[in-house]
Amino acid sequence: MESKTLFLMALGIWLQSLTTTRGWVAADDRITGGRDFIDIESKFALRTPEDIAEDTCHLIPGVTESVANCHFNHTSKTFVVIHGWTVTGMYESWVPKLVAALYKREPDSNVIVVDWLSRAQQHYPVSAGYTKLVGKDVAKFINWMAEEFHYPLDNVHLLGYSLGAHAAGIAGSLTNKKVNRITGLDPAGPNFEYAEAPSRLSPDDADFVDVLHTFTRGSPGRSIGIQKPVGHVDIYPNGGTFQPGCNIGEAIRVIAERGLGDVDQLVKCSHERSIHLFIDSLLNEENPSKAYRCNSKEAFEKGLCLSCRKNRCNNLGYEINKVRAKRSSKMYLKTRSQMPYKVFHYQVKIHFSGTESDTQTNQVFEISLYGTVAESENIPFTLPEISANKTYSFLIYTEVDIGELLMLKLKWKSDSYFSWSDWWSSPGFTIEKIRVKAGETQKKNWANLQKEEQNTNSMKNGVTFTSDAQCFGCFKDKFPEY
Ligand SMILES: *[C@@H]1O[C@H](CO)[C@@H](O)[C@H](O)[C@H]1NC(C)=O
Ligand SMILES: *[C@@H]1O[C@H](CO)[C@@H](O)[C@H](O)[C@H]1NC(C)=O
Repeated sequence: MESKTLFLMALGIWLQSLTTTRGWVAADDRITGGRDFIDIESKFALRTPEDIAEDTCHLIPGVTESVANCHFNHTSKTFVVIHGWTVTGMYESWVPKLVAALYKREPDSNVIVVDWLSRAQQHYPVSAGYTKLVGKDVAKFINWMAEEFHYPLDNVHLLGYSLGAHAAGIAGSLTNKKVNRITGLDPAGPNFEYAEAPSRLSPDDADFVDVLHTFTRGSPGRSIGIQKPVGHVDIYPNGGTFQPGCNIGEAIRVIAERGLGDVDQLVKCSHERSIHLFIDSLLNEENPSKAYRCNSKEAFEKGLCLSCRKNRCNNLGYEINKVRAKRSSKMYLKTRSQMPYKVFHYQVKIHFSGTESDTQTNQVFEISLYGTVAESENIPFTLPEISANKTYSFLIYTEVDIGELLMLKLKWKSDSYFSWSDWWSSPGFTIEKIRVKAGETQKKNWANLQKEEQNTNSMKNGVTFTSDAQCFGCFKDKFPEY
């Protein structure tokens, strides 16, 4: 670390010690308790389902009565929420939302919000340095709860956002026993991408560490969110770089609709999406989003990674399965731009056959899926190249749950410079086989998608495949326009 940064940190600590006026009586108690609580700067507010937004009751390390006063429930689990860097010095609007969602899901739990706002409000490198002290504070608090009340650390789940994720990691590394779980919500990248495991979030910090990476755009070390995996399970929604609905156009639309109040949130839209994805997982428990292990973003985009065998897929968020692989693995999924974020993933494999020897590039198609529950029409996709006697695999996803796939329609989206339809209708080139695999259900329509014969000769009108050749009639009833 630069000496200037160290100096600023030291200055920050010194200023902090001058300006801290809180709780002298409590501090006296802590001294008489004979333990080292006096230097704890962070505050631990036990929020309630009735008052999700205010810190009305503090648990004060060393002050036994404070725990009873706040009605801490010793038999239920505890969530410890740790915020990140802040420009305003105030809690961001996601804090009460996350608290509310945690209480909705676990009404008897204790949701504690760690207030380290004064340290989080410094220049970024200074605040980043403070994560060590915040982590230490949190660890002291947790150790005290364990020693004083025999509160089991297996009941403790830390949730940290941005810098708060690293503070949670440091806390976890300093507790006497491992806490049950740490969830890192887009852990901060700058100052941490190349940091050693002890000074950032890492898999050693809890029995189980899961991480959502939502804003890792840019070169390593520069990106807002850390790029490398730092937990047991690291999920990169939409590739992890940038989130849908977070572009400038969308920002302008939201400002027009809701006013400038949420600008702060918009700037950090992709970063903060990690929190909202987690909130979504708390609120929509029946339908968790699934993420899939994959060696690369590119392979995922080709639909090659929709397997659930051997823990290759997992739930995003609260209901994650605690899989501890030896090597941390990256998992991917697509999401919607709004809650509920869940989408349904499909791998589609198309086999082109025929005698045509030319290779066509960047052809845009539209695919429509019809299922037992609903349909999803005209999903665009581009094949970078097409040639005969080759199979192409790609990923598509639907925002609605169509149920079991019954019928599929593939259309070539016409372009002006190339008369594909002529070429297409020539017997030299056809689609013989389409295979579809659904990620969410793991169902494969591998062998039994039959081509509807009467509809083979026009790619413009579309080629239809059904899962049951005997039943064209029934689909005609169900989808009269086809
Ligand atoms: C504490 O939590 C348990 C469940 O863990 C619940 O049964 C009990 O009613 C709670 N106690 C109070 C006082 O809310
Ligand atoms: C594709 O395979 C068929 C059958 O083996 C063959 O007749 C045809 O010429 C092949 N097409 C190309 C472009 O190689």
